[in-house]
Amino acid sequence: MAIDLTDIGIEEGQKYEGIYTTMSKDGVKNAAPIGIACKGKDKLECRLFVGTQTLKNIMDTGKYVINITFDPLYFAKSTIGNLDITEFSDDEDIAILKNAEAYIICEVTSIRKMDPIKDHVTSNGEAYIISSDALKIVKNNPCAKAINRGLFALLEFLTNYTRLDLVGKDQQDYFIGRFNENNRMIKRVSDEDTIEAMEILKKSMIEKGFDVE
Ligand SMILES: Cc1cc2nc3c(=O)[nH]c(=O)nc-3n(C[C@H](O)[C@H](O)[C@H](O)COP(=O)(O)O)c2cc1C
Repeated sequence: MAIDLTDIGIEEGQKYEGIYTTMSKDGVKNAAPIGIACKGKDKLECRLFVGTQTLKNIMDTGKYVINITFDPLYFAKSTIGNLDITEFSDDEDIAILKNAEAYIICEVTSIRKMDPIKDHVTSNGEAYIISSDALKIVKNNPCAKAINRGLFALLEFLTNYTRLDLVGKDQQDYFIGRFNENNRMIKRVSDEDTIEAMEILKKSMIEKGFDVE
Protein backbone atom coordinates (compact mmCIF):
# COMPACT_ATOMS: atom_id res chain seq x y z
CA MET A 1 0.00 0.00 0.00
CA ALA A 2 1.28 3.49 -0.86
CA ILE A 3 2.62 5.51 2.05
CA ASP A 4 0.34 8.38 3.05
CA LEU A 5 1.38 10.49 6.04
CA THR A 6 -2.12 11.99 6.27
CA ASP A 7 -3.12 8.56 7.74
CA ILE A 8 -1.50 9.77 10.97
CA GLY A 9 -2.62 13.40 10.64
CA ILE A 10 0.57 14.68 9.02
CA GLU A 11 -0.37 17.22 6.34
CA GLU A 12 1.91 18.80 3.78
CA GLY A 13 3.17 22.27 4.72
CA GLN A 14 2.58 21.84 8.48
CA LYS A 15 4.92 21.04 11.33
CA TYR A 16 4.56 18.47 14.09
CA GLU A 17 6.53 17.10 17.01
CA GLY A 18 7.67 13.52 17.48
CA ILE A 19 10.26 11.48 19.32
CA TYR A 20 13.06 10.57 16.91
CA THR A 21 14.78 7.31 17.69
CA THR A 22 18.16 6.52 16.16
CA MET A 23 21.06 4.13 16.60
CA SER A 24 24.74 4.95 16.77
CA LYS A 25 27.28 3.06 14.65
CA ASP A 26 27.97 1.00 17.79
CA GLY A 27 24.30 0.08 18.22
CA VAL A 28 23.42 2.45 21.10
CA LYS A 29 19.77 3.52 20.90
CA ASN A 30 18.85 7.19 21.38
CA ALA A 31 15.61 9.18 21.65
CA ALA A 32 14.97 12.94 21.33
CA PRO A 33 11.99 15.19 20.55
CA ILE A 34 12.44 16.82 17.15
CA GLY A 35 10.14 18.79 14.83
CA ILE A 36 8.63 17.12 11.77
CA ALA A 37 8.07 19.13 8.57
CA CYS A 38 5.83 17.42 6.02
CA LYS A 39 6.89 17.95 2.41
CA GLY A 40 4.53 15.50 0.67
CA LYS A 41 2.61 12.25 1.18
CA ASP A 42 5.83 10.32 1.89
CA LYS A 43 8.38 13.14 2.24
CA LEU A 44 9.66 14.57 5.49
CA GLU A 45 12.20 17.10 6.59
CA CYS A 46 13.75 18.12 9.89
CA ARG A 47 16.30 20.66 11.06
CA LEU A 48 18.92 19.28 13.41
CA PHE A 49 21.34 21.34 15.42
CA VAL A 50 25.00 20.39 15.53
CA GLY A 51 25.79 18.79 18.88
CA THR A 52 22.72 16.58 19.05
CA GLN A 53 23.29 12.83 19.18
CA THR A 54 20.34 12.48 16.79
CA LEU A 55 22.19 14.40 14.04
CA LYS A 56 25.35 12.37 14.57
CA ASN A 57 23.46 9.05 14.40
CA ILE A 58 21.50 10.08 11.31
CA MET A 59 24.69 11.21 9.55
CA ASP A 60 26.34 7.90 10.43
CA THR A 61 23.47 5.56 9.52
CA GLY A 62 21.13 7.42 7.13
CA LYS A 63 18.13 6.06 9.05
CA TYR A 64 15.77 7.06 11.83
CA VAL A 65 12.31 6.42 13.21
CA ILE A 66 9.74 9.06 14.16
CA ASN A 67 7.58 7.90 17.06
CA ILE A 68 4.13 9.46 17.39
CA THR A 69 3.20 9.77 21.05
CA PHE A 70 1.40 12.06 23.51
CA ASP A 71 3.43 10.76 26.46
CA PRO A 72 4.66 13.79 28.49
CA LEU A 73 7.34 11.70 30.23
CA TYR A 74 8.83 10.57 26.92
CA PHE A 75 9.05 14.20 25.83
CA ALA A 76 10.56 15.48 29.10
CA LYS A 77 13.00 12.62 29.68
CA SER A 78 14.27 12.49 26.10
CA THR A 79 14.81 16.27 26.02
CA ILE A 80 16.92 16.24 29.17
CA GLY A 81 18.72 12.95 28.51
CA ASN A 82 18.06 9.58 26.89
CA LEU A 83 15.16 7.21 27.56
CA ASP A 84 15.77 4.05 29.51
CA ILE A 85 16.65 1.09 27.28
CA THR A 86 13.50 -0.69 28.51
CA GLU A 87 11.40 1.95 26.69
CA PHE A 88 12.73 0.70 23.33
CA SER A 89 11.45 -2.37 21.49
CA ASP A 90 13.62 -5.49 21.49
CA ASP A 91 14.59 -5.10 17.81
CA GLU A 92 18.36 -5.23 17.53
CA ASP A 93 18.78 -3.40 14.23
CA ILE A 94 16.39 -0.47 14.69
CA ALA A 95 15.43 1.86 17.58
CA ILE A 96 11.65 2.11 18.11
CA LEU A 97 9.69 3.13 21.20
CA LYS A 98 7.72 0.19 22.58
CA ASN A 99 4.69 2.30 23.49
CA ALA A 100 4.52 4.62 20.46
CA GLU A 101 0.99 5.12 19.14
CA ALA A 102 2.48 4.97 15.67
CA TYR A 103 5.90 5.16 14.10
CA ILE A 104 7.40 6.08 10.74
CA ILE A 105 10.53 4.40 9.43
CA CYS A 106 12.53 7.03 7.53
CA GLU A 107 15.41 6.81 5.08
CA VAL A 108 17.56 9.88 4.48
CA THR A 109 17.68 11.18 0.90
CA SER A 110 19.79 14.30 1.48
CA ILE A 111 21.61 16.20 4.21
CA ARG A 112 22.45 19.85 3.64
CA LYS A 113 24.11 22.40 5.86
CA MET A 114 22.02 25.47 6.54
CA ASP A 115 23.30 29.00 6.44
CA PRO A 116 23.93 30.07 10.05
CA ILE A 117 20.52 30.55 11.67
CA LYS A 118 19.69 33.97 13.01
CA ASP A 119 16.18 33.59 14.38
CA HIS A 120 14.35 34.54 17.57
CA VAL A 121 16.46 32.18 19.68
CA THR A 122 19.83 31.56 18.07
CA SER A 123 22.42 34.05 16.85
CA ASN A 124 24.64 31.55 15.03
CA GLY A 125 23.15 28.06 15.46
CA GLU A 126 24.81 25.56 13.15
CA ALA A 127 22.26 23.16 11.74
CA TYR A 128 21.52 20.69 8.95
CA ILE A 129 18.35 20.01 7.00
CA ILE A 130 17.63 16.29 6.71
CA SER A 131 15.29 15.27 3.88
CA SER A 132 13.84 11.77 3.98
CA ASP A 133 11.45 9.29 2.46
CA ALA A 134 8.91 7.68 4.77
CA LEU A 135 9.37 3.97 4.01
CA LYS A 136 6.75 2.51 6.36
CA ILE A 137 4.06 3.69 8.77
CA VAL A 138 3.05 1.38 11.62
CA LYS A 139 -0.05 2.26 13.66
CA ASN A 140 -0.30 0.61 17.07
CA ASN A 141 -3.32 2.78 17.81
CA PRO A 142 -5.68 3.12 14.82
CA CYS A 143 -6.52 6.71 15.92
CA ALA A 144 -2.87 7.82 16.23
CA LYS A 145 -2.29 11.45 15.20
CA ALA A 146 0.91 13.49 15.27
CA ILE A 147 1.08 16.41 17.70
CA ASN A 148 0.87 19.96 16.36
CA ARG A 149 1.88 22.29 19.18
CA GLY A 150 -0.06 25.23 17.74
CA LEU A 151 -3.35 23.92 19.12
CA PHE A 152 -1.93 23.68 22.66
CA ALA A 153 -0.60 27.24 22.39
CA LEU A 154 -4.00 28.46 21.19
CA LEU A 155 -5.80 26.78 24.12
CA GLU A 156 -3.27 28.16 26.58
CA PHE A 157 -3.75 31.66 25.22
CA LEU A 158 -7.55 31.33 25.26
CA THR A 159 -7.37 30.85 29.02
CA ASN A 160 -5.17 33.98 29.25
CA TYR A 161 -7.66 35.85 27.08
CA THR A 162 -10.54 35.15 29.46
CA ARG A 163 -8.48 36.73 32.29
CA LEU A 164 -7.22 39.80 30.41
CA ASP A 165 -9.85 42.11 31.91
CA LEU A 166 -9.36 40.74 35.42
CA VAL A 167 -5.61 41.24 35.89
CA GLY A 168 -3.27 44.19 36.40
CA LYS A 169 -1.16 45.95 33.71
CA ASP A 170 2.01 43.88 34.26
CA GLN A 171 0.11 40.61 33.89
CA GLN A 172 -1.72 41.97 30.81
CA ASP A 173 1.64 42.87 29.22
CA TYR A 174 2.87 39.37 30.00
CA PHE A 175 -0.21 37.80 28.34
CA ILE A 176 0.16 40.05 25.25
CA GLY A 177 3.85 39.10 25.01
CA ARG A 178 2.89 35.42 25.15
CA PHE A 179 0.24 36.02 22.47
CA ASN A 180 2.76 37.69 20.14
CA GLU A 181 5.26 34.87 20.60
CA ASN A 182 2.66 32.10 20.15
CA ASN A 183 1.14 33.85 17.13
CA ARG A 184 4.58 33.91 15.49
CA MET A 185 4.98 30.19 16.19
CA ILE A 186 1.43 29.26 15.08
CA LYS A 187 1.92 31.01 11.71
CA ARG A 188 4.93 28.76 11.17
CA VAL A 189 3.55 25.39 12.28
CA SER A 190 -0.25 25.33 12.26
CA ASP A 191 -3.19 24.77 9.97
CA GLU A 192 -5.34 27.58 8.54
CA ASP A 193 -8.04 27.22 11.21
CA THR A 194 -5.61 27.69 14.11
CA ILE A 195 -4.05 30.70 12.34
CA GLU A 196 -7.54 32.16 11.78
CA ALA A 197 -8.46 31.55 15.44
CA MET A 198 -5.42 33.62 16.50
CA GLU A 199 -6.42 36.39 14.05
CA ILE A 200 -9.93 36.48 15.60
CA LEU A 201 -8.36 36.84 19.05
CA LYS A 202 -5.97 39.52 17.81
CA LYS A 203 -8.86 41.54 16.37
CA SER A 204 -10.81 41.24 19.59
CA MET A 205 -7.83 42.38 21.67
CA ILE A 206 -7.19 45.36 19.38
CA GLU A 207 -10.88 46.32 19.81
CA LYS A 208 -10.36 46.17 23.58
CA GLY A 209 -7.42 48.60 23.18
CA PHE A 210 -4.49 46.21 23.62
CA ASP A 211 -1.31 46.82 21.66
CA VAL A 212 -0.89 43.52 19.80
CA GLU A 213 1.80 42.94 17.12
C1 LIG B 1 9.11 19.68 21.29
C2 LIG B 1 10.59 19.78 20.97
C3 LIG B 1 11.00 19.92 19.65
C4 LIG B 1 12.36 20.01 19.34
N1 LIG B 1 12.72 20.15 18.03
C5 LIG B 1 14.03 20.16 17.70
C6 LIG B 1 14.43 20.24 16.32
O1 LIG B 1 13.58 20.30 15.41
N2 LIG B 1 15.76 20.21 16.04
C7 LIG B 1 16.72 20.11 17.03
O2 LIG B 1 17.93 20.06 16.70
N3 LIG B 1 16.36 20.04 18.35
C8 LIG B 1 15.06 20.06 18.70
N4 LIG B 1 14.69 19.97 20.02
C9 LIG B 1 15.74 19.90 21.05
C10 LIG B 1 16.29 18.48 21.19
O3 LIG B 1 15.27 17.54 21.47
C11 LIG B 1 17.29 18.46 22.35
O4 LIG B 1 18.41 19.26 22.00
C12 LIG B 1 17.74 17.06 22.73
O5 LIG B 1 18.45 17.13 23.93
C13 LIG B 1 18.61 16.41 21.68
O6 LIG B 1 18.91 15.11 22.15
P1 LIG B 1 20.03 14.19 21.50
O7 LIG B 1 21.38 14.85 21.77
O8 LIG B 1 19.87 12.88 22.21
O9 LIG B 1 19.77 14.11 20.03
C14 LIG B 1 13.34 19.92 20.37
C15 LIG B 1 12.92 19.77 21.69
C16 LIG B 1 11.56 19.71 21.99
C17 LIG B 1 11.14 19.55 23.43
